Amino acid sequence: MTPSATTASTSTALTPLAPLPPVLPSWNPLGHLFNFRDDPLALFERGRDMGDAVRMRVAGRYLTAVYHPDAIHRVLVERQPNYVKQTRGYQQLRKLLGNGLLTAEGDLWKRNRRIAQPAFQHRRIAGFAEVMIRATNDLATQWEAAARTGETIDLAESMNRLTLRIAGETLFSLDISGESDSVGGALSDMLGGFLPSVTNPLLAYLPVPSTLRYRRGKATLDKVVHGIIARRRQEPENQDDLLGMFMAARDEEGHGMSDEQLRDEVLTMLLAGHETTANALAWTFAHLSQNPEAAAPLYEEVDRVFGNGTFTLEAYPQLTYADQVIKESMRLSPPAWVESRMAVEDDELCGYRIPAGSFVFMSQYAMHRHPKYWVNPTTFDPSRFAPGVHLCPDGAPRPKGVYFPFSDGQRKCIGEHFANMEARIVLTMLTRRFRATVVPGTVLRQEPSVTLRPGGGGPVRVARRN
Ligand code: HEM
Repeated sequence: MTPSATTASTSTALTPLAPLPPVLPSWNPLGHLFNFRDDPLALFERGRDMGDAVRMRVAGRYLTAVYHPDAIHRVLVERQPNYVKQTRGYQQLRKLLGNGLLTAEGDLWKRNRRIAQPAFQHRRIAGFAEVMIRATNDLATQWEAAARTGETIDLAESMNRLTLRIAGETLFSLDISGESDSVGGALSDMLGGFLPSVTNPLLAYLPVPSTLRYRRGKATLDKVVHGIIARRRQEPENQDDLLGMFMAARDEEGHGMSDEQLRDEVLTMLLAGHETTANALAWTFAHLSQNPEAAAPLYEEVDRVFGNGTFTLEAYPQLTYADQVIKESMRLSPPAWVESRMAVEDDELCGYRIPAGSFVFMSQYAMHRHPKYWVNPTTFDPSRFAPGVHLCPDGAPRPKGVYFPFSDGQRKCIGEHFANMEARIVLTMLTRRFRATVVPGTVLRQEPSVTLRPGGGGPVRVARRN
């Protein structure tokens, strides 16, 4: 039982003798280390079933997982400055991404977020639609061929190539689709070793296979990114995109970003900007394949809105069911499945003491399936995102902090609108022409690394709809 089962404290005054959160039982002398490494989704669901906050022991330290929406809102929004990204996961991520926008903190983050923000304004994103449509049309031509031959498509790979191309063209004005094989391979090499490296940082110094693969992947990505920067230095007149904004930025003394800082920003945008959306799309097609009754209204919507024509920006706001489908897919299979922070000063969450230095975890995966806030939580049902008030099983309106695929507060995803537009365009253009069916007998495992990937890629067969 939690001291404050329904409300988390929102004041800054702390109860002097608030207890620490209870510890999730474990029979293993090493605590929850192996659960965290091997099946973290199940671990975070188990924690949720114990109450609003629970401690787990991983690699010699306790981490606190919180499951109350007020507590999540407090960490991400109300007391955001108290919760920094000095956790083991972020330390590992920094080895890969350096101090790009996702991993940076303090003044560096503030400055670079200000520089990047204009590239993500609604008006500019609408301009990206043209690239998204062209790239999806090219992919549709490939799917056309696969529909004729009956060849199986690797959904995750197909979506990754597409979103990588879109990120390269929109953010850096570069066609990097030629590099998509090496980038995709490098990413898999690196992300495969992510969770083991979080639970055992020493692995990074040992010549074990996962470390060697990680180093190989990092070297490949560094080469691609430094290549992008070098190409742009040779054509500096093209300043009107995100890379141009970063390259043109000057500090108070008139200094521009170093190549190293540029590398961090470009790599961050490339990874954050394509892998997450690719996973969201792959999972969306997979859920639709497995839930034909939820797919039927989508086919009806795209046929009605597009008629015999093709996608236009005017059609975009009318594709409301498509939006619900994407939201529902990100509920059950959130590309960002967990977020972690470290408390700088003592705090109190759900009536429990959170001492300074505590690691606080918030799992989108566990919250998006929380039986207290969702009716039939494991059922794929896009109608739950229909316009109007959304209710919990007890009839109360669903609170903030229950659904947060893009996080919340100051560190909320800068690419949210970009991703939403991209996902809606790709999903509706492809479903207008094709029905994608997961190959019968395939078990789609949810594979949590930095993002939640479909294990085995999600093999599908595509068929022309009309
Ligand atoms: C479905 C797609 C996406 C999802 C689910 C997603 C999710 C998230 C989440 C949860 C965070 C917060 C992480 C944290 O603070 O711990 C985040 C941050 C970020 N995302 Fe996304 N993202 C998506 C697409 C994109 C795209 C398309 C871009 C860029 C083109 C992007 C760029 C970033 C960046 C740069 C940050 C760091 C922002 C900051 O701290 O200022 N993301 N994203």
